[in-house]
Amino acid sequence: MHVPATRGPVSAELLAALGRNDFDAPLPTLESAVDAALRATDDILYDDDLQLALLCLYELHYSGIEGVDDRWEWHPALLAVRSRIESAFEDRLRSGIKVGGIEAAGAEFEDRTISSAQGVAEALFRMSEGGDGPSVSDFVARKATLDQVREFLVHKSIYQLKEADPHTWAIPRLPGRAKSAMVEIQADEYGGGRAGRMHSELFARTMEGAGLDPAFGRYVDLLPAITLASVNAMSLFGLQRRLRGAIVGHLAIYEMTSSIPNAKYARGFRRLGFESPVTDYFDEHVEADAVHEQIAGRDLAGGLVESDPRLASDVFFGAAAVCLLDELVGAWQLGAWQEGRSSLLAALPAPEAA
Ligand SMILES: [Fe+2]
Ligand SMILES: [Fe+2]
Repeated sequence: MHVPATRGPVSAELLAALGRNDFDAPLPTLESAVDAALRATDDILYDDDLQLALLCLYELHYSGIEGVDDRWEWHPALLAVRSRIESAFEDRLRSGIKVGGIEAAGAEFEDRTISSAQGVAEALFRMSEGGDGPSVSDFVARKATLDQVREFLVHKSIYQLKEADPHTWAIPRLPGRAKSAMVEIQADEYGGGRAGRMHSELFARTMEGAGLDPAFGRYVDLLPAITLASVNAMSLFGLQRRLRGAIVGHLAIYEMTSSIPNAKYARGFRRLGFESPVTDYFDEHVEADAVHEQIAGRDLAGGLVESDPRLASDVFFGAAAVCLLDELVGAWQLGAWQEGRSSLLAALPAPEAA
């Protein structure tokens, strides 16, 4: 990823530090900027400065940031500030999930009445049906303009161009049946051994076909905090063994809420005149995720809870976090489009190629 534009004192201090190579120096100004920002923020989910900083800290564990030395990845002072931001972020997500129908599904997990793999899968499927608010997929299918579907791709690109990677961190942390299920799903996400068929590569071709640059992070400066928060949540869950239940719940509900919306996205792109290879990414998910959702619910999430019932509430937490963040990102996009505004922080450049 290129070095993004700063959005406040935390990202400014962080990116300034990452530009230096004095790994022994402490980072007191970064630490105090983080503390001040955490005290001042109204809502960390919408805090551009903190979410951008967290994204950059996580990117050190993925493909890195241009010109930034890889030795920063495990720098103790960076891990310390990351942990402070994460703790506020996790608290916000845990309090945020007590909304609407999601709370009821959570209560089932909390009272531990569900401990069989089948029971876990059924509860997750019920959660995946929640939310009768307006949906981005319906909007894309029926009404979205070319400009709006291009914005939609830009929002998705900060995850889909590294699709599956945050969940992969969890593989060594899972036991038996859950691990096998995770590997089976992830193998498909990475193209099943076929070059060029990784879902991230299919998504890159969708972007190219819509006249967008598929380089990872190319549009990071246009993305609002809430979009960054939705991908930061995956890294938060994926990078910590403590949260292995949450990353499993995250993947399970993600797979369960994928097949039908992707059919609608495909319909929307065809309505606007696109065909293969632009529509391949969506078509692939209609088929693949109808299978993945079964494996993810019963064998992955269910298998994990059967092997360790104490993880049930975190499986639910991870799943509920997806429902919450999807709803908030969707509300952000639809709110902007209904008012005739861009859902991005600045206008998107015109298509580069037809
Ligand atoms: Fe996928
Ligand atoms: Fe999938």
